[in-house]
Amino acid sequence: DEVDGIGVARLRDAALEAATLGSEVVGDAIDKPVEVETKMNATDLVTKTDKNTEDAILKYLRREFPDHMILGEEGGYVGNPDSDFLWCIDPLDGTTNFAHSFPSFATSVGLLYKGQVVAGSVVEFTGGPKCWGMRTYAAGRGLGATCNGDAIHVSDRSTVQESLLVTGFGYDHGEAWAMNMEFFKHFTDVSRGVRRLGSAAVDLCQVALGITESYHEFYLKPWDVCAGVLMVEESGGKVTTLQGDDYTVFSKSMIASNGKVHGEMLHHMKPKVETLSVASELRDLWFVP
Ligand code: IPD
Ligand code: CA
Ligand code: CA
Ligand code: CA
Repeated sequence: DEVDGIGVARLRDAALEAATLGSEVVGDAIDKPVEVETKMNATDLVTKTDKNTEDAILKYLRREFPDHMILGEEGGYVGNPDSDFLWCIDPLDGTTNFAHSFPSFATSVGLLYKGQVVAGSVVEFTGGPKCWGMRTYAAGRGLGATCNGDAIHVSDRSTVQESLLVTGFGYDHGEAWAMNMEFFKHFTDVSRGVRRLGSAAVDLCQVALGITESYHEFYLKPWDVCAGVLMVEESGGKVTTLQGDDYTVFSKSMIASNGKVHGEMLHHMKPKVETLSVASELRDLWFVP
């Protein structure tokens, strides 16, 4: 298993090292006073820790892979624009949770080769004040996915009725966001429950871990999902757009599931998504280098 002459295992280990270095910066800042700034609107937060963590990860990746391209949430594109490799970094996914010491935030580092995810790692912060813990996930294309070093697999539940679902709502409160509120209502009725935790990377890893059956959201960014998508696929799950198309990290809608409830989830959402006035826009890609 090699890409462009580099072993997938080496790339996975590099992603793991990068996410671990980042998580150390986050870990040092937990439960300390946070200064928040806002970005797009009043709910879209950023802290010094987001930036410091991204810097630590960039420093490592630029040293290890000087000829690769990198996309970070806070700093945008850096590196070699001609490279077939693109690292996608979310230094702190779930900034709002972090700022409130609410568990469910993570450092996420994924790697694309010619647009396909080949390696990734997520370090999830669990617990909360007085009992913080960590789960470290890693995956390489074709090598499976692990949590704290042990192989992980999606769950076997095969109906929505017996499923625990998770979704998210981004900072842009538009038409698709409102439709997802309707989906929330529907699925709360027909499943065992719908959770809204606030970190896309964690939401994906929890599907991979087999504790939730399905996760969906609109308008996620490549850095939110790059590592997590591979975790779901390498643990036996399935990822598509909410229109049922092949998913790339540049897609504007996603559903990631254990595979067994995928059809049933899409059956409810796909026809409705197609009626959105932005339905054709959802088929466009974004952040493509
Ligand atoms: C956000 C989280 C959240 C999702 C938003 C993301 P951030 O990332 O992943 O769960 O609902 O769409 O933007 O800003 O905390 O890194
Ligand atoms: Ca953010
Ligand atoms: Ca994010
Ligand atoms: Ca972030």
